[in-house]
Amino acid sequence: MTNAGRRLSLAVLISGGGSNLQALIDAIDGDRLDAEIVVVISNNADAFGLQRARKAGLATEILDHRGFDARERYDAELTEILASYDPDLILLAGFMRILGAAIVRRFEGRMLNIHPSLLPRFRGLDTHRRAIEAGEKQHGCTVHYVTATLDGGPPIMQGSVDVLETDTPDDLAKRVLAVEHRIYPAAVAMIAEGRLQYRDEQVLLDGRLLQSPVIDSVR
Ligand code: GRF
Repeated sequence: MTNAGRRLSLAVLISGGGSNLQALIDAIDGDRLDAEIVVVISNNADAFGLQRARKAGLATEILDHRGFDARERYDAELTEILASYDPDLILLAGFMRILGAAIVRRFEGRMLNIHPSLLPRFRGLDTHRRAIEAGEKQHGCTVHYVTATLDGGPPIMQGSVDVLETDTPDDLAKRVLAVEHRIYPAAVAMIAEGRLQYRDEQVLLDGRLLQSPVIDSVR
């Protein structure tokens, strides 16, 4: 619990399928995460994730980046929308927009991302193909705090899968996605339980500096 017993409030930002959003909804419904999603925001009006949100009865907002001539203006509008919902945490869940320094700074320590690689390996896009091409034996995903460095903020939790010789990028993406669906709600639950704190680009777990991310216990 945070804020004097109030449930942790979440804003979830999506661009596409929203399967990570669904995993968060399911974790809340299944009492594995004591939180409440106060808004789902998409930069893409056609995102399937918006349908998932509506089905779950959640508030939705669409902020299409194509109407903006500069990233800063988009970010400023997004900041206003976010501030109007005043969430405890902002979760980037397949949100395919790079956020500028100002919005990241505004919400620093309150914004998380899930990235489909074992950071610091493979920041950026196309991670599954790059992992296969690099001959990685293990690949996975990372939940991390968002800082001004793209995919570079302090990691909270990681989960991994073996890379099989026969894997295509799509095969690998599917198995990694299943792990994402476990670790994102689990990482947010640690915050909801008051176990995790962000201080000056570092993470404290149960009051101690987290030197390396918590590893998904299913493996
Ligand atoms: C996930 O792999 C996430 O890590 C990446 O984009 C994908 C989004 O999937 N950033 P979904 O929209 O949650 O289904």
